[in-house]
Amino acid sequence: MTTILVTGGTGTLGRLVTERLRTDGHEVRVLSRHSRPYAVDLREGGGRLDAAVEGVDTIVHCASSPRGGDERAATHLIAAARRAGVGHLVYISIVGVDRVPFGYYRTKHTVERLVEESGLGWTVLRTTQFHDLLVQMFQGLAKSPVMLLPAHVRDQPIEVGEVAARLAELATGAPAGRAEDMGGPEVRTLSSLAQAYLTATGRRRAVVNVPLWGAAYRGFRSGGHLAPERAVGKGTFEEYLTKRFGRR
Ligand SMILES: NC(=O)c1ccc[n+]([C@@H]2O[C@H](COP(=O)([O-])OP(=O)(O)OC[C@H]3O[C@@H](n4cnc5c(N)ncnc54)[C@H](OP(=O)(O)O)[C@@H]3O)[C@@H](O)[C@H]2O)c1
Repeated sequence: MTTILVTGGTGTLGRLVTERLRTDGHEVRVLSRHSRPYAVDLREGGGRLDAAVEGVDTIVHCASSPRGGDERAATHLIAAARRAGVGHLVYISIVGVDRVPFGYYRTKHTVERLVEESGLGWTVLRTTQFHDLLVQMFQGLAKSPVMLLPAHVRDQPIEVGEVAARLAELATGAPAGRAEDMGGPEVRTLSSLAQAYLTATGRRRAVVNVPLWGAAYRGFRSGGHLAPERAVGKGTFEEYLTKRFGRR
């Protein structure tokens, strides 16, 4: 049995990684700002972080906040892991963090480098967007009677349970460095995904594609966040929608 700390173990991905590892018989500690007994804000670090990491074999680092502070959080986590002699740090990242100059992606790329240069055994897995994230985005956009989408952008969403299973597998193996990227089964236009969401939720909205400007948009438009050659995911967006919203 291995002792594994899952940071962000209450989040969409982290919860499933935790479940999987526990089912496989590992001792799992869940760290987040609100989950006791390991309630730690990684951006602050401190004695409670050291206590959470003490005696741990492997850390799966899923905690993240798109609002900022991930570099500081990773720096604290790595320092604590080194002090505690942790053998393996596994990090979940996003396909295209080195290709699309989008703020959050730049941060993730910086954290990847911190992990790689940590001196710890490390594994980094990049995946495309989870189905959950697209639904969250469409829910926000559907608040308005007209759904405005960035024109000519495609996506390749993946089932988060499949990512969790792969991450758990990597966490219980030897440090692997950069693991092969994981992409969802289909590359589709955002408007076709939005239409599927509208159908599944029984909403009617006009979907309008708007060309945007800027380097980040160009990066997304050219598909820098896609991995068509690694379309290894099985669960489709429609299957996810049916599971979540039922059949209409
Ligand atoms: N969503 C996607 O489509 C996608 C795709 C590829 C990769 N990823 C990566 O997968 C990871 C997990 O994503 P997710 O969608 O599952 O995220 P999520 O649901 O937003 O969960 C984030 C988790 O991090 C914790 N957290 C946030 N800030 C923290 C801090 N300062 N200190 C300690 N814990 C903190 C949160 O709990 P508290 O609020 O209790 O702190 C929560 O458990 C992220 O690294 C993300 O970049 C996501």
